[in-house]
Amino acid sequence: MVRPFNFSAGPAALPLEVLEQAAAEMLDWHGSGVSVMEMSHRGRDFMSICEQAEHDLRDLLAVPASFRILFMQGGGLGQNAIVPMNLMARSASRTADFVLTGSWSIKSQAEARRYGEAHVAARLSDERPMRLPPPSSWQLSANTSYVHVCSNETIDGIEFQDLPDLSALGCDAPLVIDCSSHIASRPIDWTRVGLAYAGAQKNIGPAGLTLVIVREDLLGHALSICPSVFDYRTVADQGSMFNTPPTYAIYIAGLTFQWLKRQTESGLHGLAAIEARNIAKAKLLYDCIDGSKLYRNQIDPSCRSRMNVPFFLADESLTEPFLVQAREAGLLQLKGHKSVGGLRASLYNAMPIEGVQALVQHMHAFESHHV
Ligand SMILES: Cc1ncc(COP(=O)(O)O)c(C=O)c1O
Repeated sequence: MVRPFNFSAGPAALPLEVLEQAAAEMLDWHGSGVSVMEMSHRGRDFMSICEQAEHDLRDLLAVPASFRILFMQGGGLGQNAIVPMNLMARSASRTADFVLTGSWSIKSQAEARRYGEAHVAARLSDERPMRLPPPSSWQLSANTSYVHVCSNETIDGIEFQDLPDLSALGCDAPLVIDCSSHIASRPIDWTRVGLAYAGAQKNIGPAGLTLVIVREDLLGHALSICPSVFDYRTVADQGSMFNTPPTYAIYIAGLTFQWLKRQTESGLHGLAAIEARNIAKAKLLYDCIDGSKLYRNQIDPSCRSRMNVPFFLADESLTEPFLVQAREAGLLQLKGHKSVGGLRASLYNAMPIEGVQALVQHMHAFESHHV
């Protein structure tokens, strides 16, 4: 089956093999006579699906035993409230630090203000190209309960290539990362992270599932106003079954984890293979942009996102014709986010290199007619 290439920022393309397997198993999962959607979340069949998904994710991302994996709901924006409700009480002053590097981290800080003191430790300057403020310049609060960063800003296309080492900055608070738009695209250095959260709908599966990977010692500090379904201690103690979890989304996420584990590339396997492929895809597109007179990207190469590549046309009036012709060429969802305009190509794990080659070919052809 020939499908167009879907560059959506999320909900985003899933691996074809995953969709095909889900389709084949839709009416009768492994001889059970029912669809996964119709199973009790506490029954043996679904429990095995959930346990396998958790096991595969732990394996794939090399999550240490000292971290718990939680399957939650509420999305990335839900976590903007759930994280402060669970962690802010760790400091007597209920202070948390935020590094503002784009739209999503700005939203995280704004939401946290409802629960305590959400201190801005650093923000992007107005310089162009845009670059992340170096950790050595961050003004961290004494006794902060946690430090929050968005490790890949989906709209702005800015990614931390290395996570900050807070202990080297003299800070013993946990680092919280919103990794919604690059989870499972590269390894995570767990020695630097206390909690990672991600909506599933970009790199993992359907919307409705939120992954939280949290260090065990960070459980059990929730404010009394925190709803029980969002108390990490409660969710962890109940194996993500305190209430009905998003069962079908967990099942699809599990199929995606297995797909990721099967990937190979130049002798590499699993996450290493996917990361190598992601580096190659991003290079292809950034090289095309940098080598052109028509397209530009305004992020410093040191922190350009491998997953979300925003770019602009020198003549803005060409943006719409570019999109129309791209659609005709089978290249979908390239419009930039409405807050910044222009174009954006999201190159999540499920985007094959052939998709990026087709996009680059379209960009060259379009440029040759308009420059
Ligand atoms: C980095 C990041 N954080 C948070 C969100 C919000 O996620 P949700 O819509 O699942 O609440 C998004 C959505 O695009 C995102 O890209």
